[in-house]
Amino acid sequence: MSNTVLVGAQWGDEGKGKIIDVLTESAQVVVRSQGGNNAGHTIVHGEHKYVLHLIPSGILRRRKTCVIGNGVVIDPVALVAEIESLSGQGVQVDAKNLLISDCAHLVLPYHRLIDEQREIRKGKHKIGTTKRGIGPAYGDKAARTGLRMGDLLDPAFFSEKLQARLRENNSILRALGAKPVSFKRVESAYLEAGKKLAPLIGNTVVYLHGAMAAKKNILFEGAQGTFLDLDHGTYPYVTSSNTTAGGACTGSGVPPHCIGKVIGVMKAYTTRVGEGPFPTEDQEISRMLHDMGREFGATTGRARRCGWFDAVATRYAQMVNGIDTLAVTNLDGLDSLKRIKICVGYRLDGKELRVPPSDNHGLARCTPIYTEMPGWQIRTDKVLKFSDLPVAAQRYLKKICELTGAKLEIVSVGPGRSQTMFI
Ligand code: IMP
Repeated sequence: MSNTVLVGAQWGDEGKGKIIDVLTESAQVVVRSQGGNNAGHTIVHGEHKYVLHLIPSGILRRRKTCVIGNGVVIDPVALVAEIESLSGQGVQVDAKNLLISDCAHLVLPYHRLIDEQREIRKGKHKIGTTKRGIGPAYGDKAARTGLRMGDLLDPAFFSEKLQARLRENNSILRALGAKPVSFKRVESAYLEAGKKLAPLIGNTVVYLHGAMAAKKNILFEGAQGTFLDLDHGTYPYVTSSNTTAGGACTGSGVPPHCIGKVIGVMKAYTTRVGEGPFPTEDQEISRMLHDMGREFGATTGRARRCGWFDAVATRYAQMVNGIDTLAVTNLDGLDSLKRIKICVGYRLDGKELRVPPSDNHGLARCTPIYTEMPGWQIRTDKVLKFSDLPVAAQRYLKKICELTGAKLEIVSVGPGRSQTMFI
């Protein structure tokens, strides 16, 4: 395995956590390079279910080093809670298996409150954020007013900077009609979390370059998905980081020529949480999947919006990310269907489009052009080999890969490690 970037090719929740967990077997280092605890990766090992938000999925395997890179935004209190919850499940997390970049920015309570207030004020135009403060935290980073993980290592400096930031942010909160944040409370909670995390905080760029020099393989674990990318997604209905493959480099300090491969993860259908245009959204498939108890968010528990596979979107994702191979997940979610639709183009103002329009108003007005394929109506969740899948399922997978323009590498038919086929 060369250094590999794993990206979501849709709107997030493609099942990346499970695929990363499977691929981690052949990597020594697993890196998160963007996003924050807005992400939620669910991993099932036998009887145990683990939900990770900030910590890379590699943490569940022995002798792997996990890195939270400079491009991630971290709520240190939430990170300590995640570490403690893992240790309660028997997974030890310490400086031997988790390193945190000193340049990663902090998510502070005022970020969460501003996120919430902005959403309230947007009314029906709200983004549908996870309310984890992600947008305001990245906003401060870009405005050069953020606090970073490294600042927690110098309590006097942290307190002074926090006081100055609170003066500005509390006046914003008051203007928005929300309660100001208490300096003392934030200071003590963050410094306490900082003390616990201190042994893990350092220069992760140097560590990663040392790992590459030692010929270790790095797996970059993408969070969210291509169409939630701040630049390439359905702006403004996006998250505030670069979720596409390039984000792995800027968010970790590993240069582009060191990346050997990009794997795109996509569901056999499409889902989206939060607001924003979603051309292939379909009430019937949503109802079917929700009735099966599927498609509820790991972070917020929200029901995801569901629709047919959108090859216009995934072809664009292939282009932006340079996807070499595909991991298709949740094939078993379609098992009961007689006919399955695939969106092969969009229609907008009488024209046929092969790429999504860049503006979300245009995308919202697109109607999908579908092709239909027969379903297989047989359970696939126990199938272990691609050649043992029903022929209709094999044809469907080949078709969506052909339309996306990348080779099929992995098919997943359930949450367990064993429910994974390598092609
Ligand atoms: P934020 O990242 O909380 O600011 O939310 C912005 C948009 O990204 C919203 O539509 C969220 O629902 C969506 N989003 C953020 N994280 C995830 C994720 O891990 N999976 C799917 N959608 C996400």
